[in-house]
Amino acid sequence: MTGPWWRSSVFYQIYPRSFLDTNGDGIGDLPGIVSKLDYLAELGVNALWVSPFFTSPMADFGYDISDYRGVDPIFGTMEDARRLIAEAHKRQIKIIFDLVLNHTSDEHPWFVEARSSRDNPKHDWFIWKGRTDALTGKRLPKPNNWVCQFEFKSAWWPNEATDEWYLGTFTRHQPEVDWRNPELRQAMYDVMRFWLDEGVDGFRLDVVNWYVKDAQFRSNPFSFKANPDIFQRHIYDRNQRETHEICAEMRRLAESYPGDRLLTGEIFSQDPAIAASYQGNGSDELHLAFNMEPLYLGWQPKRLARAIREWYRLVPAEGWPNLAFSNHDQPRHATRFAPRGFGGLLARAVPDRHKKERLQIAAMMLLASRGTPFIYYGEEIGMENAPIPRKELVDPTGITFWPLPLGRDGERTPMQWNGKPHAGFTGAGAKPWLRLHPDWPSVNVEAAMRDGDSLWHWYRKLIALRKAEPALSRGSLEFVAEGERGVIAWLRRDEKTVACLMNLSGRHRTVRLDSAVPATGAAATVLLGNRRDAGASVPVERVPLAPYEALLVTLPV
Ligand code: GLC
Repeated sequence: MTGPWWRSSVFYQIYPRSFLDTNGDGIGDLPGIVSKLDYLAELGVNALWVSPFFTSPMADFGYDISDYRGVDPIFGTMEDARRLIAEAHKRQIKIIFDLVLNHTSDEHPWFVEARSSRDNPKHDWFIWKGRTDALTGKRLPKPNNWVCQFEFKSAWWPNEATDEWYLGTFTRHQPEVDWRNPELRQAMYDVMRFWLDEGVDGFRLDVVNWYVKDAQFRSNPFSFKANPDIFQRHIYDRNQRETHEICAEMRRLAESYPGDRLLTGEIFSQDPAIAASYQGNGSDELHLAFNMEPLYLGWQPKRLARAIREWYRLVPAEGWPNLAFSNHDQPRHATRFAPRGFGGLLARAVPDRHKKERLQIAAMMLLASRGTPFIYYGEEIGMENAPIPRKELVDPTGITFWPLPLGRDGERTPMQWNGKPHAGFTGAGAKPWLRLHPDWPSVNVEAAMRDGDSLWHWYRKLIALRKAEPALSRGSLEFVAEGERGVIAWLRRDEKTVACLMNLSGRHRTVRLDSAVPATGAAATVLLGNRRDAGASVPVERVPLAPYEALLVTLPV
């Protein structure tokens, strides 16, 4: 494979709190990840994104960092982090860490200093507005209408010591830094250098598109969109032009290191054009930018196909796409893709008789797509969102918005390893930090690995095929069906052509592939199918697809 490693890699996202607990405190840790590296190698993934494990008061479970260079004792030690990097590399697994540079924790020493006085050298590393009119002595209104996303209140929080407001658009415990301040910028770049020097292969950068705010602090206009836009068009608190300069500087920083260090940005927006813009011209800003659109979609064949097609159209020619259906912020796709009663209002009103086939199709869509795929932990066994009772909610969003289903605890429940107590996530006597999904006695890694026909083995085979077939890892992608009558089909072409055929409907369908092959009467050969055996022949003029069939075939040249 030519090109940097991350173009041909299959990523796996680990949420460390929930992966494996080795010290019996009910919270996953870094040694837990290390002990599962062989498992991940067996699945075939060759790159990891590890969500934050840095020192944090955990107001947002690690997305509020109080020391960028320290490992939170809950997760382990600096030695464990070093061992994680080294052990991953020993197995040819690359590893990227998650840096949250839009805000710190309110307990970060920078903010503690900054809030102490207006004269403090760190004061201007954060965003402030005065609370009192200097001339009249009157209390000023909040500077604008920006909203705190997780508390659903004004994003401006009072600081008595300086008589100012500071900005916190996630929770009040996550003050936003001022990226326009040159010293702050250098301090953040030093954080990046620190971990790059430790040997990490790159970063997932949290909410990149929020880094810079409007210099005039103008109020956002109204929008009818509730989730996730909270009724505002975010033209002044996000996506400012200067953010692209920062991405370009970060790219140069990453490129000053050997080994194709990767920068992949979370672009918090459902607009794929905005996400694509953070790749710049494809070679001067972020290497990868997450397009969030597919994370919000249900089992909607046309919309899924359109989202994927549009994404490819928008990513710059020199750039590279990526795809994820699940992460730690949105309901898992095993749940989203299940049938829902009454237009989605009543999840699970309809029994999901085809869960396995749907998830096989989703896995094929992900792993036979063009661009770097990201698997979310537990996706390989079909983990679903767990219902969490109100009194057990811990995610600030979930608590604020209850009973609206906007909380994120459900997609963060402990990994289901085996049939032992707590699914083997933690010791029998321990209390997991979040309750498990009740399906763990049957849905767990051990059971899935034992059953040669399980979703786990389907993922393993797809990953292996993606590595073995250059058409799948680097080939072009050309749609043959874009969700009409529930069928999504595309061709991946390199030296060979592989066709990926997916029937998302519960009816029999057919796909024609004859225009893709030179000779009539030719037959394609099955590489992998959930209804057919590998090696079988399929006529290209009319490929019949059974309900919920997923099929990968190679076409004759
Ligand atoms: C990103 C993270 C999310 C976090 C937020 C604030 O959206 O993915 O988990 O709560 O940023 O850091």
